[in-house]
Amino acid sequence: MKKKAFIAGNWKMNKGLGESIDFLSTFSAAIDSDLSIIDILQEKLEISIFPPIVSLYLMKQQKMNAHLSFGVQNVYWKDSGAFTGENSVSMALEAGAVYALVGHSERRHLFGEDDETVRKKFDTCTKMKLQPIICVGETDIEREKGLARSVIERQVEKVLEAPDEIENNKSLIIAYEPVWAIGTGKSATADDAQRSCSLIRDIVEKMKGAETADRTVLLYGGSVNVANALDFLQQDDIDGLLVGGASLDPEQFLGIVRLAASLLSER
Ligand code: PGA
Repeated sequence: MKKKAFIAGNWKMNKGLGESIDFLSTFSAAIDSDLSIIDILQEKLEISIFPPIVSLYLMKQQKMNAHLSFGVQNVYWKDSGAFTGENSVSMALEAGAVYALVGHSERRHLFGEDDETVRKKFDTCTKMKLQPIICVGETDIEREKGLARSVIERQVEKVLEAPDEIENNKSLIIAYEPVWAIGTGKSATADDAQRSCSLIRDIVEKMKGAETADRTVLLYGGSVNVANALDFLQQDDIDGLLVGGASLDPEQFLGIVRLAASLLSER
């Protein structure tokens, strides 16, 4: 099966129950009334929202979400126990998540998650069939020191070292999100994002073979908005977007989805 393009909205710690349902009703009504998007959603594009987990459960219960999937922003790798504040993979699945962000830079840098932690989360998600979205990317300082490439290599390789997990995985999804571009309004250039995504595909090919590399869905994230989304989506190795701030507003997020749908309708 041909892989679908993927537009994800990472809400971070924004929107409680009321605001989430308001967003869902506005966004779903707009999608449902736009036949050009509906057509593309059947075969070529997936839209997924990553709300706070309490809102996710409620959103999932609503009848107006036929064209959307949902994911969690974080999970713990153990199934249950004394881990205050954490949610397990089985809890995320029960709440209605299909995807989990793993290793988002805010988890790595604000909550001290290292490569080993990210790898354990990836392994558990994969084993339990919650599709992980691995997030990688260099900081500003690493970039200035010319270390961007080696940081991306280390982060991707560490996760892919897992022996058999990927074989059971329907496909890998990896988001390249340079840390300096997240929430700053300073996005990478489309060329830089393409270069990094191409590097990631090469690493996947080297470690897991050409077929897996080809199937891998690569996202760019970091200050994506309606004005720059198309530049990224037009790149050969960019299969979708991980959108933070601009996904909080239904109109802006819809604008990005519309751009993706019109591009895909020409392919
Ligand atoms: P941003 O966030 O679009 O607000 O930069 C992206 C992300 O953190 O995934």
